[in-house]
Amino acid sequence: MSTAVRTHHMWREIVEQPEAVRRTVEAHAGSESRKGLTEVAKLLADAERLVMVAHGASRHAALAGRAMLEAVAALPADVSFASEYRLRPLPPRPKTGFVFLSQSGETADTLAAMRETKARGAKVVAVSNVAASPLAREADYVVLTHAGAEVSVPATKSFTTQLAALFLIAVSVAHARGRLADEEQAGLIGELQRVPALMQEIIAANEAEKVAMALDQVRAVLFAGAGVNYAIAMEGALKLKEAARIPAEGFPLGEVRHGSLALLGADAASVIVGDTEGQEHTVEAIRAAGKVIVVGENGDLKVPKTIAPLAPLLTVVPLQMLAYHAGARRGLDVDRPPGLVKAV
Ligand code: AGP
Repeated sequence: MSTAVRTHHMWREIVEQPEAVRRTVEAHAGSESRKGLTEVAKLLADAERLVMVAHGASRHAALAGRAMLEAVAALPADVSFASEYRLRPLPPRPKTGFVFLSQSGETADTLAAMRETKARGAKVVAVSNVAASPLAREADYVVLTHAGAEVSVPATKSFTTQLAALFLIAVSVAHARGRLADEEQAGLIGELQRVPALMQEIIAANEAEKVAMALDQVRAVLFAGAGVNYAIAMEGALKLKEAARIPAEGFPLGEVRHGSLALLGADAASVIVGDTEGQEHTVEAIRAAGKVIVVGENGDLKVPKTIAPLAPLLTVVPLQMLAYHAGARRGLDVDRPPGLVKAV
């Protein structure tokens, strides 16, 4: 492995993910430590809908979390950019739960949106990586992510631990709503407990190191995924913009033939994330348009199988590694994208 690979914070933080996820699960899923999550589940059990508010990678985590909440707890959720949410100061509707996500707990718009929601009389839940942050201190309920300090501006372990926390919230709410029996809840938590070892396999294989060569000369990369993997397509694009400064956007797979396909060609590439069932025509069209990297069970970047709501915790890892290697190959400081800071 090259020296650069060992000296960047982003790489170290990618490698720390199995441990960070394990810590987060342990902190919330043990019989003693489950109390906090049980309180949150009680608050959200009667909700008819959730509003989730965040920016950047935290908003992508919320989008994946929405899919988890809808699949596991049958609780529909809306996800908003905090800055946009603040422009729609509607009185909180009854039976609405509010979840604000910020790994730093300091993002100004997310914090302001939470304060405004509280001032309108709603109880709010924060998901954060920093217990001493204003978001975590001022929320009525907090679910901490235990990723440990994250230095690199491109978020990695703070993102996957947010996904783990959101899955635990979804499972706890489903249990509180009577949709999961005790043993079903334990079974789903058991699936989550397998994730760190599966992440470890992806990291050890490091397939992204070779695959990243395909991005050396490209001018743009299109990421596409369906369902829960749409959130991961957007996160993969965000990582590539930050670490490798390559123009990239994420789309729902089914949307690609409605416009963005026109941008593909010899000097562009596409990354298809996860399950493509029902979208075979779109996949064919993307393949016909140029270079394609597939992330999935039998893809160019292989991802071991898990249950559908947990797939994002695995599919995102090779994309983080791809962004890292693409940036390192271009000789860039992957940890410090120009103009960006850790907390906005
Ligand atoms: C993620 O890679 C970014 N650095 C950025 O989008 C970040 O997720 C966003 O600024 C939100 O930060 P927060 O989670 O601390 O609120």
